[in-house]
Amino acid sequence: MKEKIAALKKEFPALGARFGGRRMVYLDSACTVLKMRCAAREQQRHMLKLGGCGGKRSVHALALAMEENFHSARAAVASFMGARSPAEIIFTSGVTDAVNLLANAFPFTPGRSEVILSPLEHNAVFLPFERLAAAGKIKLRVVPLGGLKPDMKTYAKMLGPRTALVCFTHASNIFGGREDISSAAALAHSAGAYFFADDAQFAPSHAGGGALCGADACAFSGHKIGAPYGTGALYVKRELMGKLRPWRVGGGTIEDVSVAGGRYKVKYLENYQGFEAGVQNYSGASALAVTIKRLEKCGFENIRKHISGLVSGGLDLLEGMNGVRVLGEREDLAEGSLISMVPEKKSFSIPDFNQFLNLQLKGRFIAVRTGRHCADLACLASGFRETIRISFFAYNTPRDTAFFIEALRKYLSLLK
Ligand SMILES: Cc1ncc(COP(=O)(O)O)c(C=O)c1O
Repeated sequence: MKEKIAALKKEFPALGARFGGRRMVYLDSACTVLKMRCAAREQQRHMLKLGGCGGKRSVHALALAMEENFHSARAAVASFMGARSPAEIIFTSGVTDAVNLLANAFPFTPGRSEVILSPLEHNAVFLPFERLAAAGKIKLRVVPLGGLKPDMKTYAKMLGPRTALVCFTHASNIFGGREDISSAAALAHSAGAYFFADDAQFAPSHAGGGALCGADACAFSGHKIGAPYGTGALYVKRELMGKLRPWRVGGGTIEDVSVAGGRYKVKYLENYQGFEAGVQNYSGASALAVTIKRLEKCGFENIRKHISGLVSGGLDLLEGMNGVRVLGEREDLAEGSLISMVPEKKSFSIPDFNQFLNLQLKGRFIAVRTGRHCADLACLASGFRETIRISFFAYNTPRDTAFFIEALRKYLSLLK
């Protein structure tokens, strides 16, 4: 395992970059994972050696090569996401794009127009539905927090014949750990509702996300697994895909247009084809597939074990430390990839601490995330206005955590 992780680490040249002459300790992978050399190379190769148009618009040899490459990228993503068929994969620019698509394409009816969200949803999931609710098109309900987890008993009671869709994040980007998607999906199904899982924080260290836990739809972002920005995918189970209404429409989405009595009739293509309007990010998709294959070569089990070890090691070092409180339970946190904490001393200023990590350390700076983490629902429900988050990927080592802890101790010692 160690050799495989060490070999994977060599794929991330940004780890050795210096900023303002200082080394980086990168503990912000929940925001975005650094990018892989193989992904950058593949994107470049694709742009320079192919560079044509896919989507079956043209049928010359270059266009066919593009299509073949695009198809094999779709198959790689389908296999990674646990889809039964590549036809269940819609390429998107990430989770934000995927949820906007799902929200606007979903077949709400007057009788079934309620959407239930877990209280841990990222704004990427919350806001597309909040907009529909504000426009009077759906009713939005948010499960209360029980501790730092969705209160599952209340969730079960909230479900009913009006529930159309339930959305749960698979791994919270603010409190860490992992959510019980299988139980949440089974409950939604027993009420006749569909279930969406946000795999943004789960995908970086697991093959097969929501789809393998019974979700009808799920999504991940390529930039969070080391692939290029603007890549990702939405999985939609075949049965639900057939009910979605193509939303962002345009070239490449239609089978036929006819006109009768002065009115146009548009027949959209089935499956993903009705949802990928216009020329696509073909080079990004190809690089995404290469990234997935490289992570598979390392082994997602190895990556998960490595990250779990880093989280547990971090918790050991933080245990009993006066001045900050770690959020969440050890066993659950080890299933995730991050540790969130809040200051206990009034004189502890989070923005000040951020500056300290950036500017006051000799020879290096430590990249962490502080704030609300785009998890406003969780902040509102928990009362935490902001947290300090350290997050890990395969390239991190216990030394990175030790640098952070040492800096934290130093900052605490400066406080009154
Ligand atoms: C849990 C979660 N969901 C959704 C998103 C949005 O992802 P993207 O910005 O790649 O669309 C993020 C990004 O931080 C996230 O952490």
